[in-house]
Amino acid sequence: MDEHLRQDFPIDWEDDGYVSRREFFKFMTVASGGLALGSIGLAAWSRTLRDHRTFEPKLVGTLQSIAPGSALPFTYPRDTDICLLIRRPDGEIAAFSRRCTHLSCPVDYQPLKGRLYCPCHNGAFSAEDGSVIQGPPPHPLPQIMIENRDGELWAVGVRS
Ligand code: FES
Repeated sequence: MDEHLRQDFPIDWEDDGYVSRREFFKFMTVASGGLALGSIGLAAWSRTLRDHRTFEPKLVGTLQSIAPGSALPFTYPRDTDICLLIRRPDGEIAAFSRRCTHLSCPVDYQPLKGRLYCPCHNGAFSAEDGSVIQGPPPHPLPQIMIENRDGELWAVGVRS
C-alpha cells in the first residue's frame, strides 16, 4: 500500500474487513426476512394464477331442474371431467369437480350433512367451498364457477 495513501486515510487497515457478529446476524436476519417475504409473494402470485381458469361457457342445467337438497351430474370443461351441480337446502347453487382429490373416486352430495362424500376412504368435502373436512384428500375439490342467466345455469370456469 502506498505510504501517502496510508497517511491521507489514517484508518485501522487491519479492521477494514472486520464484520462484527452483531452485523453478521443483522445481515442474516434481513436477508432471511427478504427471502421469506419473496417466497410468500411468489406463492400468492402463483396461487392467483392457478385460481381462476375460464373455459367456454356450457349450459349445465336450469334452476327449475334442480330441487333444493339435490344434485345433478354434468361434465366440464372436457367430457371426461365429471362434476356435480348441487343446490343446497337453502336454495344456493354451487358446483364442484366430482373427482376426489385423494385417488379420484367420484364423490356424492349429502345435503343433510352439508358435504360431498367420498366412499372410497371416508373422505369428505364442504358443500360450501369444497374444502377438506374429513379423511385423506390432500386438497379441496376444484369449484366450477356457475353463472345464473335468467334461470339457466352456465358453467364458465374452474377455480382450483
Ligand atoms: Fe376419496 Fe380416497 S379416493 S378418500
